[in-house]
Amino acid sequence: MRAAAFSELTGPEGVRIVDRPTPDPEHGEAVVDVEACAINRHDLWILEGDSAMVDADDLPFVSGLDVAGTVRAVGEGVTDVAPGDEVVLCPNETCGRCRFCREGPENLCESFSLYHGGLAESARVSADRLVRRPEGVDATTAAALPTAYVTAYRMLQRAEVGAGDLVFVPGATGGVGLAAIQLADVLGARTVGTSSSASKLDRVASLGLDHPVHGEDPEELRGAVEAVGTPDAVVNHLGGPYTELGMDVLRRGGIMTVCGRTAGGRSTFDVADLFLNHKRIVGSTMGTQGDLETLVDLVAFGDLDPEIDGTYPLSETADAFAAMRDRETVGKLVITA
Ligand SMILES: NC(=O)c1ccc[n+]([C@@H]2O[C@H](COP(=O)([O-])OP(=O)(O)OC[C@H]3O[C@@H](n4cnc5c(N)ncnc54)[C@H](OP(=O)(O)O)[C@@H]3O)[C@@H](O)[C@H]2O)c1
Ligand SMILES: [Zn+2]
Repeated sequence: MRAAAFSELTGPEGVRIVDRPTPDPEHGEAVVDVEACAINRHDLWILEGDSAMVDADDLPFVSGLDVAGTVRAVGEGVTDVAPGDEVVLCPNETCGRCRFCREGPENLCESFSLYHGGLAESARVSADRLVRRPEGVDATTAAALPTAYVTAYRMLQRAEVGAGDLVFVPGATGGVGLAAIQLADVLGARTVGTSSSASKLDRVASLGLDHPVHGEDPEELRGAVEAVGTPDAVVNHLGGPYTELGMDVLRRGGIMTVCGRTAGGRSTFDVADLFLNHKRIVGSTMGTQGDLETLVDLVAFGDLDPEIDGTYPLSETADAFAAMRDRETVGKLVITA
């Protein structure tokens, strides 16, 4: 089988198409013929050498978390899925033994890790991490869900977003950002979101963003967001200076959830404003397999239509990463078989 492997951690030009033996499933495993695998900034960071998870000793490395396809074979002891089943993978890797695995939510597992290996024609996975795709949920659409949409969904839950709330999403055009806009809409909330690109914002407005704010300088964005209203919640995947912006505009008692650091791994904010106004900052990573099942159902019911900006054949994986790096895209990019 072919795989798109990272041979050097120097950016998109480090992707090489390589031949690998088609895997056989071991006990408890399944091999999935990959029809679609979405890419995330997480993969791009690995490819750029900016992830503690992968270093030169791990090369060549096959990344790719968001696998959707059809089960080709199952190993001993697997009874829940069978060859021919149409599935999407929950990429969570958990120990199954710690208190968070026992009591939930599982994404707090003390040994939490993520599956990598979907940028290939076949993927060997833990069979109990496969979620069935009902009729009408195609592989490309399903592949958008496991990382970006699950993360955004859990962030909205942790920010206690409900009907009528105003949710602020700095960087509303990417995977997590647009997922937060669409899922806030599903929850009956209103949204204010930003982008450096007016044309990308127009597209996101057509997909449900209520109040587009064009710009990139946090100082300039502040007034425009305040003119819309006082957000009840902030979904922050950018970090850096956007954390202070989010905290400043957040209402008294409001909640900011943080999952990323695209704009910087360090943030400052007004400590007195935090405690005097009873604001909360909540860290959040991924979500649960149950969250993924919920989102698959939302797609099947027609309540959620994840935005796919483009599909790329496996041989053009490097081009997909270049488009992500160059901030050309709205929503998700998916590598297809
Ligand atoms: N903890 C978790 O479980 C988890 C899960 C998923 C993602 N994440 C994190 O969440 C973040 C988003 O991931 P993603 O896959 O959604 O990425 P993505 O699709 O590449 O996100 C693109 C968005 O980020 C904005 N952006 C890109 N570079 C920027 C910069 N230098 N300054 C300000 N805005 C910038 C873009 O704004 P423009 O429209 O202006 O170009 C666009 O809105 C990443 O930090 C990722 O690691 C964390
Ligand atoms: Zn655990």
